[in-house]
Amino acid sequence: MKKSKKTLLPLFYKKKPRRPLSEKQKKLLKFNLKKFLFKKNFSTKRKIFLEIGFGYGENLINLSINNNNKIIIGCDIYEPGIASTIDKIEKNKLKNILIYPKNIFTLIDELKRNSIDKVFMLYPDPWPKKKHFKRRLISKIFLKRLHKILKKNGMTLISTDSLSYLCAIFYEFSLNPNFEWANKDAADCHKRPLEIIKSKYERKADIERNDKYFLKFKKIC
Ligand SMILES: C[S@@+](CC[C@H](N)C(=O)[O-])C[C@H]1O[C@@H](n2cnc3c(N)ncnc32)[C@H](O)[C@@H]1O
Repeated sequence: MKKSKKTLLPLFYKKKPRRPLSEKQKKLLKFNLKKFLFKKNFSTKRKIFLEIGFGYGENLINLSINNNNKIIIGCDIYEPGIASTIDKIEKNKLKNILIYPKNIFTLIDELKRNSIDKVFMLYPDPWPKKKHFKRRLISKIFLKRLHKILKKNGMTLISTDSLSYLCAIFYEFSLNPNFEWANKDAADCHKRPLEIIKSKYERKADIERNDKYFLKFKKIC
């Protein structure tokens, strides 16, 4: 008898919104999202940035405004955040954003190899309890997939306010010879890169006076 293959993907966990979606949010998701959806077999000659877990979209919008010659793909699964981001895209009349409202692992399967110039992951869920570590996104299998879609010399920018996740992130990247730590030095990890803006989660981290870390990793081969 064939043995069943064990899944190596992080345990997928979709947070439920605290309150039901408003009529406006429902409308944005049902009708307006269509205009910005990432579609399978997408192809472009322009450079592509990808933000994974864009939350309420503050950074995604900023990336789009400052890089209007590039395509900005945003991936998240949290419906209130997606609705709020669509609203911001429309209010700012932005034309270069594509939204993927599902799990990042399915998006990676739909992206071409070596197609992404830069990846942003601002405050991925830290899952601080040991029993929840398996839900953390940044893992061996995730880095393998990330490597597949990034261009050579492509950068990944990650921020976190969790010391335990910081250590786990460094550990996972150190095990993967295809990536190199790209911050200038340890002090550089405390400076938010100019191209990133303060997100909703970062404002929460500030209120709680948490230390924040901004990490850069380069795909070297
Ligand atoms: C802690 S929040 C940070 C949001 C935002 N980047 C910020 O800094 O405010 C993490 C985000 O990652 C999203 N997320 C978690 N797992 C995901 C997955 N597998 N695929 C896509 N998005 C995911 C969550 O829905 C959430 O919006």
